[in-house]
Amino acid sequence: MLDVVLVEYVSDAQMVRSIRNRVKDNLTNDHSFIDAQKQYDWFLNLDHSTNILYLYSEGDTQAIVGFGYLRKVKDRWYATLAVEEEFRGKKYGIEIYNHLKNASEDDLWLEIYSDNNPSLRAALAADFKIVDILDKTILLVYRKE
Ligand SMILES: CC(C)(COP(=O)(O)OP(=O)(O)OC[C@H]1O[C@@H](n2cnc3c(N)ncnc32)[C@H](O)[C@@H]1OP(=O)(O)O)[C@@H](O)C(=O)NCCC(=O)NCCS
Repeated sequence: MLDVVLVEYVSDAQMVRSIRNRVKDNLTNDHSFIDAQKQYDWFLNLDHSTNILYLYSEGDTQAIVGFGYLRKVKDRWYATLAVEEEFRGKKYGIEIYNHLKNASEDDLWLEIYSDNNPSLRAALAADFKIVDILDKTILLVYRKE
């Protein structure tokens, strides 16, 4: 089981930034590199009611494993996540998707590149369902009852 921390401090937001920059090409929203100043400004001005970040660590070592991000766009909540390379293949991606879907106050949407098999498989294993297959991306949703 992973430990979960809600990101409330800039120092933790910078930790998210480092992980995020390493996987930026897999994220469908924004591929740009984010520097420390940009992250600082973004986090300080963030609407925390519609942008929720989590850091996950291994219970025994407290090593940071990855992050999760819930973001409300118009009336939909979207999620993204990353697991650090050395921790991949241990089902942590599935665990983080499960945490995010439970933490979300409403149905949770994912937009994943069609060739991102690890993310797709993790999402399906966490009970997200495919709703649309687009040119380069696949749209999935987890519907709350
Ligand atoms: C996507 C990501 C979070 C998955 O994390 P992970 O902890 O390695 O995934 P898990 O161990 O939970 O495995 C999830 C599933 O993917 C499969 N998988 C893992 N690595 C894989 C790979 N390289 N190729 C194909 N399938 C893979 C696993 O077998 C498992 O599927 P299964 O349950 O059907 O066996 C991780 O690869 C990552 O951080 N990638 C970069 C960032 C990213 O793509 N984020 C998602 C943006 S939409």
